[in-house]
Amino acid sequence: MTLSGTSKLAGVLGWPVSHSRSPRLHGHWLQHHGIDGAYVPLPVEPLNFAAAVRGLAQAGFQGANVTVPHKERAFALATSKDDFAARTGAVNTLVFGADGDIQGSNTDGFGFIENLRQGAPDLEFTRGPAVVLGAGGAARAILVALADAGVPEIRLTNRTRAKADQLVDDLGVTARVYDWHTCEAALPDAALLVNTTSLGMTGQPPLDLTLDRLPTGAVVNDIVYSPLTTPLLAGAVARGNPVVDGLGMLLHQARPGFNAWFGVDPQVTDELRAFVAADLMEADG
Ligand code: ATR
Repeated sequence: MTLSGTSKLAGVLGWPVSHSRSPRLHGHWLQHHGIDGAYVPLPVEPLNFAAAVRGLAQAGFQGANVTVPHKERAFALATSKDDFAARTGAVNTLVFGADGDIQGSNTDGFGFIENLRQGAPDLEFTRGPAVVLGAGGAARAILVALADAGVPEIRLTNRTRAKADQLVDDLGVTARVYDWHTCEAALPDAALLVNTTSLGMTGQPPLDLTLDRLPTGAVVNDIVYSPLTTPLLAGAVARGNPVVDGLGMLLHQARPGFNAWFGVDPQVTDELRAFVAADLMEADG
């Protein structure tokens, strides 16, 4: 797409940002919809974050995505926030309004739920407990999203138990916390198991969890998407559980920002998944 003098501009702020798939993803949508716009990587050091965001707004950008390590900084900088961002304390999408207004939202919970809806259409969130592994940054939005979806019981486990207790407290969600080494006790009668830890990611050790006590009807979701089929998902497939990989969360969380900046609610299609997945496979060598 050739750019004009009235092109709409957005990008992703991160440090580093070279690993981000968002430019490829948004670029695909821009091309697909024939939009006069661009979405670029914006490597910004933490110290320069506020100045960079204000500069982008002043330079006419529509807004930006925010990734690691800036989501809390974006939260602090936003002049208005949506409810989900306020509850998670993190912002991943900025929309620049009139008069210097910086609207912050958090679409990670939306991405998580939409990925499960698309990948496991038979899953009813209200039907049974959800087991969440990990209490880091990625767990925040997921816990709030599960509570909002009406999950009857959230069971949370983390290697560092104190962080799980603290997170539940911070978010104000109701969850039962399990010790990491006894977390298999959380599996019987679960309807959903979600890995939010970095275990299983390329270069990390696999998640060492025995699924024997998990009902075979439970959906297993890994938010790790590199590789697409983590050892956890491979183990779940082998025993017949429905599985949902993590790529869709990345793709769906991007939709609200694209819509706000470029005026189209884009679709997550098999073609898009293949396009982004091909890049992941290349990177994994
Ligand atoms: P993210 O923002 O992606 O969630 P993070 O905040 O660094 O990243 O959190 C990483 C998660 O993976 C944490 O839950 C972490 O457990 P701790 O809180 O105990 O650190 C978990 N994790 C990372 N390496 C792990 C390992 N070797 N064993 C168990 N859990 C691990």
